[in-house]
Amino acid sequence: MTYFPPSPTRAFPAFLIDPSICGNKYVHPARRVERYEPWNGGGSQTNKLFERRGAAGGGSRPNGWLEYARANPSPRPATLQDRKPVGGRGARCYRRRCVKVFGSVPNLHRRYSSSNIAIMNNPTIVVAGATGNLGGRIARALIERGASVRALVRHGAVQEKPKRLRELGVTIAAVDLSNVSEVASACSSASCVVSALAGLRDVIVEKQTALLDATIKAGVPRFIPSDYSIDFTKFPPGENRNLDLRREFHKRLDNTSISATTVFNGAFAEMLTGQMPMILFKLNRVVYWGNADQRMDFTTIDDTASFTASAALDPSTPRFLRIAGDQLSARELTVVVSEVTGKKFRLLRAGGLGMLGALIRVARALASGEKDLYPAWQGMQYMRNMFDGRAKLEPLDNDRYADIRWTTARDVLAARKVI
Ligand SMILES: NC(=O)c1ccc[n+]([C@@H]2O[C@H](COP(=O)([O-])OP(=O)(O)OC[C@H]3O[C@@H](n4cnc5c(N)ncnc54)[C@H](OP(=O)(O)O)[C@@H]3O)[C@@H](O)[C@H]2O)c1
Repeated sequence: MTYFPPSPTRAFPAFLIDPSICGNKYVHPARRVERYEPWNGGGSQTNKLFERRGAAGGGSRPNGWLEYARANPSPRPATLQDRKPVGGRGARCYRRRCVKVFGSVPNLHRRYSSSNIAIMNNPTIVVAGATGNLGGRIARALIERGASVRALVRHGAVQEKPKRLRELGVTIAAVDLSNVSEVASACSSASCVVSALAGLRDVIVEKQTALLDATIKAGVPRFIPSDYSIDFTKFPPGENRNLDLRREFHKRLDNTSISATTVFNGAFAEMLTGQMPMILFKLNRVVYWGNADQRMDFTTIDDTASFTASAALDPSTPRFLRIAGDQLSARELTVVVSEVTGKKFRLLRAGGLGMLGALIRVARALASGEKDLYPAWQGMQYMRNMFDGRAKLEPLDNDRYADIRWTTARDVLAARKVI
């Protein structure tokens, strides 16, 4: 499966929509186990960073977030009690030791320093989708923050995944996500349920609704839905199939009295390294549609996970939180990628947004993929939403938790360079 198809029309340059033609090995994040799977060394840029870290250490090769956590334990367990007050008027501030997430890669370390938001003591957070890429990282970030984590895992899940979560300190609850009573029992006494499920209507609308009902039934006060996207509240339905499903779920969510928080993070920044046909590394071009100066939001998967974990532990979150590790236009990207690679990158205008819209219609008619989570035309819909500017995230809540040092697009691209 490719995110962007080979050219649906012979008249259209295929490299504009098929990154593999330009040497950008695109594999959609959530669908290609070997690329984004957190348990697996695979081909993802994030995982390759972990591999490099392992190689630099001269020891066994940590393959993903879990291997990394095992190979690089914190000097002592990081619990909320480990945080030491560092002052600040009225606000509770804490200091925690620095934890390098990306090892020796410059600029790719994250500091857990201080937070001015009150955080709960001894919380239990339930994570649905913890066997997935983002969900696994959220579970890890929660453990690092001293929470007890209970992962809802479907019956018959590949045994290796729950096993590895257990090794991280996560408690496993095997459930049928459609069974509200069963899920409610698994959610008892939790302070927040975080969803990182991925799927189409049966998952995002139906299974999440059952999860929501179970959360309410169990008396859990807070819920974080699996959104993690551009701000789809800013444009009308009909423009992005996958985001319309989230909108449909939000209607149900907003009819309840539970305290819900959505995390909007733009696109995962790792996709800039090849999955998104924006930077054509072999052709030294940065492709844009419409306006080359339209800024877009990019956040790494780990930063999204860290922020979500902090939000899960923060009882005072608003309905929407918006984060971006970086905000860059195509023009700004040409500068960054030129500096990072030492090659001169230039802009390449693929066409206007109208043309992209027409291309999406053609691709959808020809390639269909309605039952696939990420058919080619779906990726193109995201691209159109990002380039037209309405889904832009503002204002940002990046400063809400001071324990996150945001990873920039430059950091991500620089790490790609040295692989
Ligand atoms: N902003 C971006 O650029 C971007 C990019 C990619 C993803 N995302 C979003 O991030 C979120 C997580 O995505 P991901 O890439 O981490 O997904 P993922 O790796 O595919 O993980 C999906 C999780 O959902 C579970 N799941 C799927 N179908 C299920 C079902 N029918 N019943 C029970 N559990 C089910 C999976 O369980 P199993 O392990 O048992 O299959 C897994 O734990 C999603 O909201 C996704 O849209 C955002």
